[in-house]
Amino acid sequence: MKIMICKNYDEISKKAASIVLKEIQKKPDLTIGLATGSSPIGLYKKLIEAYQKNKISFKSVTSYNLDEYIGIDRSHPQSYYSFMHEHLFKHIDIQNENIHIPENDITRIDELAADYNKKLHEHQLDIQILGIGSNGHIGFNEPGTPLGNETFIVTLDEQTRMDNSRFFNSLDEVPKYAITMGIKNIMYSKKIILIASGKEKARAVLKMIKGKVTKSFPASILQLHPDCTVILDEASAAKLMDSSKNEQQKIKAVKQKTTINP
Ligand code: GLP
Repeated sequence: MKIMICKNYDEISKKAASIVLKEIQKKPDLTIGLATGSSPIGLYKKLIEAYQKNKISFKSVTSYNLDEYIGIDRSHPQSYYSFMHEHLFKHIDIQNENIHIPENDITRIDELAADYNKKLHEHQLDIQILGIGSNGHIGFNEPGTPLGNETFIVTLDEQTRMDNSRFFNSLDEVPKYAITMGIKNIMYSKKIILIASGKEKARAVLKMIKGKVTKSFPASILQLHPDCTVILDEASAAKLMDSSKNEQQKIKAVKQKTTINP
């Protein structure tokens, strides 16, 4: 894993945008996996700015979103369909037919999941953008999700529903189910960029990077990806920095001991 620690959220967004823009410049018909949540909003703003300044075109870019709630309509302001249009798609020149967001019609949900998964098999992602849940979820792969899962229907963790209730009028309104890419789909992406900011994410960041790889903490699997960059601000990196300091102190102490008693 490549870890980048930035001063603040704006710096994270700039860094992430510069990587994405470089990739699109190299390959204008890039296939990109997109995430929702607060974390990538700054990145999307920077991409919009680059487009408005005529620095980039998304005309040949194809996108696949990670997940979507089940139980609210696509037209609901908190659906991920609405989120993506509001925060990115309506501001850039991406072609409608190149946008893919899991459909959530409950009467055909298994068929829709299978179709989405088939498309993901046919179009390997060049780059996947990720955030991280405070419980270690990526996409909506909640703790306990088998690491080999592909697109599936998930029952949302109560922690996730509570975290996301800030976007709804009450906890009761937060959907209980979602359709999400599985961990296997995410790991199949050639490149991964994970963004985390704020002290609320510090514990999750530490476990993702230094913890053991386990399905109880899905983001830990990213340690095994060959090209994963984690972009953090100082607050979300705080526990990671503390643990590195402790490790260095321990190494220093062992070195001193061995010099005194060789
Ligand atoms: C949501 C999404 C994830 C996202 C995560 C963190 O539930 N399904 O894809 O990464 O929670 O969100 P945020 O960036 O708002 O903290």
